[in-house]
This record gives sequence, C-alpha cells and structure tokens, in this order.
Amino acid sequence: MTAPRFRLRTGVPTVTISVDGVALPAPAGRSLLAALLIAGRPGAAADFACGIGQCQRCLVRVNNATELACMVYPSGGEEVETSIADGRPPPWELPPVEGA
Ligand code: FES
Repeated sequence: MTAPRFRLRTGVPTVTISVDGVALPAPAGRSLLAALLIAGRPGAAADFACGIGQCQRCLVRVNNATELACMVYPSGGEEVETSIADGRPPPWELPPVEGA
C-alpha cells in the first residue's frame, strides 16, 4: 500500500459532506477540491489543472447544481456527485486561440 499523497492535519475542524453517497469529513475553510483530494475521491474532478477557477476542469455536482470543486467551500451537509465529466478535452489539448 502506498502512502497517501495528501493528509489532513489532526485537530483541524471538519464539516461532513456526502460524496457519491458516502459521508466524508472535509476540512473546514478548505475548498471542496482539496477535501476530495485529501480523501482520495476526486472522481472526474481529478482532471483539474489550476485550482483557481480558470481551467473549468474540476466540475462536480453540489446539491444538484454544477460547480467548480476548487471554488466551493463546504459548510456541511452538501451532496456531491463527482462523476460528471463533460467530455471536453483538457485545456492543454485545445488549439491556440487565433489573434491571442
Ligand atoms: S481546478 Fe481549474 S477550475 Fe477548478
């Protein structure tokens, strides 16, 4: 078994969210993307590239609304669905914008 790539420091306050039907503690004050990565459950959001709301790759459903996981800060009780890949190619495979 490999060591986890992300760890949650002990003593950090958490909130509880539901990810694909499983209750998950999420560190308070951290993004949903961070919580998913710490838990090893990013689903399609693992296709993230920026972490600052620009690449649009970390799409998830939160309480039945499409959101960017890196821009959502759970307060507890959120229902998250991680398997909503939209089929777009990642930004590094897009053709360059003409005139840019
Ligand atoms: S990681 Fe780029 S928008 Fe969320």
